[in-house]
Amino acid sequence: MSTVQGATIPPVRANPTTTTVASPAGTTATRSAPSGGFFSRSELGRVLWRFRREFGWVALFSFFANVLMLTPTLYMLQLFDRVMISGSELTLLGLTLITVGFFLVMGFAEWVRSRLLVRSGAAFDEALNRRTFDAAFAQNLRQGGRLSLQPFNDLTAVRQFLSGSGPFAFFDLPWTVIYIAVLYVMHPWLGHASVFFCLLMLAMALWSNHLVSRQQEPVQQAGLETSSYLQSKMRNAETVEALGMLGNLRRLWQLLHERESARQADAYELSQRLQALTKFVQYSQQSLMLALGGLLAIDGHIGVGAMVAANALSGNAVRPIGTLVSVWKQFVDARLGYRRLETLLDTFPEAGPEADHDPIQGQITLRGLTATARGRNKPILDGLNAEFRAGEVVAILGPSGAGKSTLARCLLGIWPDTSGEVLLDGLPLSARSRDALGPQLGYLPQDIELFDGSIAENIARFGEVDAEQVIAAATRTGIHDMILRLSKGYDTPMGDAGGLLSGGQRQRIGLARALYGDPALVVLDEPNASLDEAGEAALVRAVRDLKASGKTVFMIVHARHLLVVADRVLVLDDGHIKALGVLQPPNPQNPLSPIEVRV
Ligand SMILES: Nc1ncnc2c1ncn2[C@@H]1O[C@H](COP(=O)(O)OP(=O)(O)OP(=O)(O)O)[C@@H](O)[C@H]1O
Ligand SMILES: [Mg+2]
Repeated sequence: MSTVQGATIPPVRANPTTTTVASPAGTTATRSAPSGGFFSRSELGRVLWRFRREFGWVALFSFFANVLMLTPTLYMLQLFDRVMISGSELTLLGLTLITVGFFLVMGFAEWVRSRLLVRSGAAFDEALNRRTFDAAFAQNLRQGGRLSLQPFNDLTAVRQFLSGSGPFAFFDLPWTVIYIAVLYVMHPWLGHASVFFCLLMLAMALWSNHLVSRQQEPVQQAGLETSSYLQSKMRNAETVEALGMLGNLRRLWQLLHERESARQADAYELSQRLQALTKFVQYSQQSLMLALGGLLAIDGHIGVGAMVAANALSGNAVRPIGTLVSVWKQFVDARLGYRRLETLLDTFPEAGPEADHDPIQGQITLRGLTATARGRNKPILDGLNAEFRAGEVVAILGPSGAGKSTLARCLLGIWPDTSGEVLLDGLPLSARSRDALGPQLGYLPQDIELFDGSIAENIARFGEVDAEQVIAAATRTGIHDMILRLSKGYDTPMGDAGGLLSGGQRQRIGLARALYGDPALVVLDEPNASLDEAGEAALVRAVRDLKASGKTVFMIVHARHLLVVADRVLVLDDGHIKALGVLQPPNPQNPLSPIEVRV
């Protein structure tokens, strides 16, 4: 039975010497045991290994369930060979009662093993869902925000396989051999015939699996393309309507849709054909086995009871193959999902407890900071060196595409491809735990993204809402009164992406979110992009407040009148620092003169 278990749980077999490790959800061990080596186990493998006892029990109950599966056969044999000959009704009653008792035990064993698997599946999910969520986000960040739900689907696939009837197929398979052996004992020809039918069923199953999976891939691909096409167009419905693009988009969609439908129809037809063929073989098998038994009984090789029993036994022998076939696709998906999840969790290990949790001051050093992106042959930021004091307000200027927003992301440690260093209080950003660092940072992205939820929840970053702090942040950005004027005040729902608010309102709520919880380092990417005069005045006040309380502020701005709050100005051009220094007062004779910086 252990080999079967090994087949279901590949990594468990990899290292029998470390069976004593009972690591809590892969904490520090993640670093000490890199994946890939023959003797190392992945984080996922370690989690699965914790369920070895449950699988042992499932194996035991599977054994009982399968032994008792022989009950009807034995009952039939007794009925024909004993009761029918002796004609004793009492024997019949006794036999029947014993049989029913066995069925009860069999049902119980079946129930217990399913329950065990369902529970283990749930516990497995629980042990991994937080890590999967974190790792999926980390991967997303690295891929430049291209949202992939794959890890979540993978986790579901593995859990569903583990808690469904999938593992049973493997636990029951050895019984096929046992049933066939019994048939051989009854008569060699019965054995030969059942081997033939098992092989036939297996061959058919493998062949149909091959056909179906070859068919399914293009169907899924077509479905995916159609839905992602639709999604992007639906999101931009207003633009589509305003610019009269509907007809063109519809034509494109129709093409995609028709292709998807055609492929679906092909796949359906194929699966129907295969089903009909399988049914034919299954029914033929039953009758042909009976016919063979009849022939042997006529020739006096076996009794009538054995003839009927042989039929039941051969059915039992084929059954695990049927189960295996029905869960094969699930198994393949789960195995693929398992591998992907394994790589994901090992690529993005959990931050160890050694991470620094101290409060930050906000002093920033750039050392040869270079930021690149896939598909570009030139870096976006090219070897920046600079030093910023804690408590300094720095305005970042530069033409469109100079790399300002990229620099902002590098300062926060969220740009995936960088070389060189961004040191915060002398330590690389990666040395700190993100959970501890996040609340001490403030960030207003250029494309403000608010989340579906109330205004208060958004300002409080979806943590526990601290009313006092929420109001403090809103007051600082001058939107407290505006929020109170809304029908539900701070509980007003934002709608998806803040869609129920005006552009200026969104901007200021994004600003309040950035200032929530008194962060020590604040990065604002064009905070005045959709602000009116009052909003800009509030912004200037907020930045002055931050400066007065010793916070470090980086502010990307285009408007000259906002530069008055800055201690220094950093001018970026084409990924290089063009100037870093104090702003020179504008020439009173020519207010449109270019900005001058004294280095
Ligand atoms: N994810 C990305 N992948 C590839 N290139 C990118 C990516 N993000 C930005 N870029 C490129 O990097 C350069 C700098 O972009 P960035 O957004 O930093 O400019 P910016 O100075 O903020 O401009 P703007 O004033 O228009 O906001 C641009 O040429 C842009 O095309
Ligand atoms: Mg930008």
